[in-house]
Amino acid sequence: MTPMIEARDVWKSFGSLDVLKGINLEVAPGEVTCLIGPSGSGKSTLLRCVNHLEKITAGRLFVDGDLIGYRERDGVLHEMSEKNAAEQRRDIGMVFQNFNLFGHRTVLENIIEAPVHVKGQPVEEAKARAMELLAMVGLEAKAGVYPIQLSGGQQQRVAIARAVAMDPKLMLFDEPTSALDPELVGEVLRVMRDLADQGMTMLVVTHEMAFAREVADKVAFMAEGRIIEYGTPDEVLGNPREERTKAFLSTLF
Ligand SMILES: Nc1ncnc2c1ncn2[C@@H]1O[C@H](COP(=O)(O)OP(=O)(O)O)[C@@H](O)[C@H]1O
Ligand SMILES: [Mg+2]
Repeated sequence: MTPMIEARDVWKSFGSLDVLKGINLEVAPGEVTCLIGPSGSGKSTLLRCVNHLEKITAGRLFVDGDLIGYRERDGVLHEMSEKNAAEQRRDIGMVFQNFNLFGHRTVLENIIEAPVHVKGQPVEEAKARAMELLAMVGLEAKAGVYPIQLSGGQQQRVAIARAVAMDPKLMLFDEPTSALDPELVGEVLRVMRDLADQGMTMLVVTHEMAFAREVADKVAFMAEGRIIEYGTPDEVLGNPREERTKAFLSTLF
């Protein structure tokens, strides 16, 4: 079976700073992988590389068998045009810490924007789908309001609905609950769990260890640009082998 994500010896540097130092990772279709690790270890950068918001320096990154960002001809890599890169990116949903909704558009308009303008979906069809997705995230009643009228947890649920509206084959989450007040974290995690239950492939950067334990199929612990430890939640969180994993986990409780 073709992995949904396959990173092969992925390197990324910013100038002389090596941020990813040989990442190898596979995420199978339908699998949820949580990426944990200290601040600055390269988690966001890895997600941004998968989504081709950053260009990798060396190695190969595939999504659903497609080489991300490059075309390979006779063993030589050629950088992809921005148009083709954008086409790859639209199959990958991304949810950020700070929601990034369009402030001057209503909830419904936020959700139909990309399906209509990027995919060319008919407006009525996009609206019907958006209402289904709002029901899924428990916000049907909020279709006509502006983001500023919503709590952070509600905004993040809209952001998830907006990403799902593009029918992505893969969803990336970068600390989706870390900007939220504690009492709003649960409602967002519940939506993410529903998505996972529906079979969505997900790569999730999170510090929510209870979520990782219950929802993740695999956990990868990153430090200093490398995946130091990888396995099931029971293995990595319940019985870590590496000192650095143990030290990191002990800072969370
Ligand atoms: N655009 C950039 N230019 C230069 N350095 C960057 C850039 N983005 C990230 N970095 C550096 O890369 C390292 C990893 O960052 P990041 O991927 O954001 O880590 P994490 O998400 O694990 O906290 C940090 O040292 C950060 O300062
Ligand atoms: Mg980060």
